[in-house]
Amino acid sequence: TSKATTVSLQEMKRNRHKIVMLTAYDYPTAKVAEAGGTDVILVGDSLGMVVLGYDSTLPVTVDDMVHHTKAVTRGAKQTLIVTDLPFLSYHISTPEAVRNAGRLIQEGGADAVKLEGGREVIEQVQAIVRAGIPVCGHIGLQPQMVNQLGGYKVQGKDYEGAKRILEDALLLQAAGCFAIVLECVPTLLAQLISERLSIPTIGIGAGDGCDGQVLVIHDMLGITEKYLPKFAKKYAELAGDMTAAIATYSQEVRDGQFPEAHHGFKMSDEVLERLVE
Ligand code: KIV
Ligand code: NA
Repeated sequence: TSKATTVSLQEMKRNRHKIVMLTAYDYPTAKVAEAGGTDVILVGDSLGMVVLGYDSTLPVTVDDMVHHTKAVTRGAKQTLIVTDLPFLSYHISTPEAVRNAGRLIQEGGADAVKLEGGREVIEQVQAIVRAGIPVCGHIGLQPQMVNQLGGYKVQGKDYEGAKRILEDALLLQAAGCFAIVLECVPTLLAQLISERLSIPTIGIGAGDGCDGQVLVIHDMLGITEKYLPKFAKKYAELAGDMTAAIATYSQEVRDGQFPEAHHGFKMSDEVLERLVE
């Protein structure tokens, strides 16, 4: 299959072909994400929590995003790559937002960027799109706002909240976004937004009415043994497999069962004799 583009995703929506998005943060995860048939790889700032061990996404820098995007683009050359603009990299000024988005493309090799927010980031979205950089929106639960929200909670359950999210979706579409991630919003709201928009919605914790779905790869592969949010599904239990493999290795090294003769390299007896002379 050919590489998806920000334009072909809109065709997929029109043809009712669900869009498959998955995060990846390095060369091997990008390779398996591509081999498994993912349409879009998201280099999410969730990498701060998933691979760097921070408590939130807030400590992640543009340099971190560039570094990980470079590894991902080397591993998945046939997949559309979208990279997150991290906390505070697009709020200080519009020129700074364009500069940072440009770094993710020019230095990282991403095809597009994603940023969180609705009406408050419209100017930045317009300026980044004007520079030729496709932008994916992200509304509903915005993890970069965790301190403002007082935790990771479902958004848009009441009329005012739901209306605001719907309006933001329409504003982001008008500003030129090619797609919008809807995180942790009620299924019925996500379905309504998906029907109202001509650009695709990609849901996470947003039900089955979205035009596509995204999951964090370490969650769905069961690599991180931590609390999983209600919306995540584990398709494998790799942490268990990885731990068992390492336990076996540890035991075999201690017991002298590994390495075996065939894991080593030969040298002639003659060389050995000369060495011990
Ligand atoms: O950073 C991330 O992984 C994300 C997805 C959860 C949408 O933004
Ligand atoms: Na993110």
